[in-house]
Amino acid sequence: MELPWAEPFKIKMVENIYKSTREEREKWIAEADYNLFNLESRKVFIDLLTDSGTGAMSDKQWSEIMTGDESYAGSASFEKLKNTVQELTGFKYFLPTHQGRAAENVLFSVLVKEGMIIPGNAHFDTTKGHIEFRKAHAVDCTIDEAFDIENMHPFKGNIDLEKLENVYQKHPKEQIPFCLITVTCNTSGGQPVSMENIKAVRELSEKYGIPVYFDAARYAENAWFIKQREESQKDKSVREIIKEMFSYGDGMTMSSKKDGLVNIGGFIALNKEEVFQVASNFTIIYEGFVSYGGMAGRDMAALSQGLQESSEESYLESRVGQVEYLGNKLIEMGIPVQKPIGGHAVFVDAKTFLPNVAKEEYIAQTLAIELYKEAGIRGVEIGTLLADRDPESRENRYPRLELLRLAIPRRTYTNNHMDFIASALKNVYDRRKEITSGYEITWEAPIMRHFTVKLKKV
Ligand code: F0G
Repeated sequence: MELPWAEPFKIKMVENIYKSTREEREKWIAEADYNLFNLESRKVFIDLLTDSGTGAMSDKQWSEIMTGDESYAGSASFEKLKNTVQELTGFKYFLPTHQGRAAENVLFSVLVKEGMIIPGNAHFDTTKGHIEFRKAHAVDCTIDEAFDIENMHPFKGNIDLEKLENVYQKHPKEQIPFCLITVTCNTSGGQPVSMENIKAVRELSEKYGIPVYFDAARYAENAWFIKQREESQKDKSVREIIKEMFSYGDGMTMSSKKDGLVNIGGFIALNKEEVFQVASNFTIIYEGFVSYGGMAGRDMAALSQGLQESSEESYLESRVGQVEYLGNKLIEMGIPVQKPIGGHAVFVDAKTFLPNVAKEEYIAQTLAIELYKEAGIRGVEIGTLLADRDPESRENRYPRLELLRLAIPRRTYTNNHMDFIASALKNVYDRRKEITSGYEITWEAPIMRHFTVKLKKV
């Protein structure tokens, strides 16, 4: 018999979590104005709000915490991290930042000016935020297959080359500072980008004289998918794949809270000296001196170790395997999810799940609340609340897909938790016909409303 995968680690420390009653949860979610961001974590049994900064560090990472060098300049922990990043990615220059959006802030301060266009594959919210804040525009060039949840395309994070070339033909190259490839593509469901596509984007961009940067938050998971799904890549090691992926870019921003396997941190890695020099100045202003950029020495040391661990194939097999395990359970139960299953999360199609809730009543949020009430599981709405209002008309923007994202923290929950999540969602699915109404807004902020919105039952 072929042996199944198993976690390449054993558990050394545990944190108890409280399994509440339905009565308690009904009360708590009402007190939280039906916004899951307002819930204290002690009121959550299984927390799938995000995979960002919520994972477990290894014993080796914790020992790095104890030996971190806290020197302001010339810290050994900085040197260690810089060397790890250079060795893994092949980029020449390195700047630490306190998290991913800070890396975006520093890099975009150098490269993005008012009126510019940044094409890419479904930019993440903070990335788009940093682009739009500078009065520039993010143009989504993701392939259309990404929006059809039943389509089994193996690389639904890919960039549509025709859409990209249209952008390149429509605007002068001075107006396009770079093309941004997000690996894996969070917004389209943790979906990977193929090596072939990355290479083709590079070649096309080179033809038009436009640089290519990566939003690399989940680059190791992307490399794992390339090894599994791309015939020409299957004999390469994940590390070789990572190096080759980045060889087609001019630089990267990183949220270390994902594939860095740490709770906080970020960085920029680059090839162009001119960009590095200006970015260094912005790092000093916004983040701290270039040898720590908002991170403690111990945090840089733990990140260096985390980057080594996240590119180990046995780790990636169990990491992506666990997310797939949950996804396959849901598929077996007939629950509609984005397919194939992504690297860091399962995305449930709330519109198909709850056909009797009107789109004006926030379908994916309604499902998120039902799942919380059912079993104390906290997912996150990727739907109309997140899509926010049109800045001009102030009307709700209704996205093509209403999704409930169940993001799986790294090395944190067991497959029993996955079984529990699947059973809870199945219970909600079995009574879906009785769920006929959703929620209305009683208060919202002018932008980024989903974090603080207050709701009441319709
Ligand atoms: N890029 C991607 C693709 C992300 O998913 C995130 C964060 C960031 C950049 C920003 O990084 O949080 O370190 O500032 N994603 C989290 C999530 C918040 O829940 O998906 P950050």
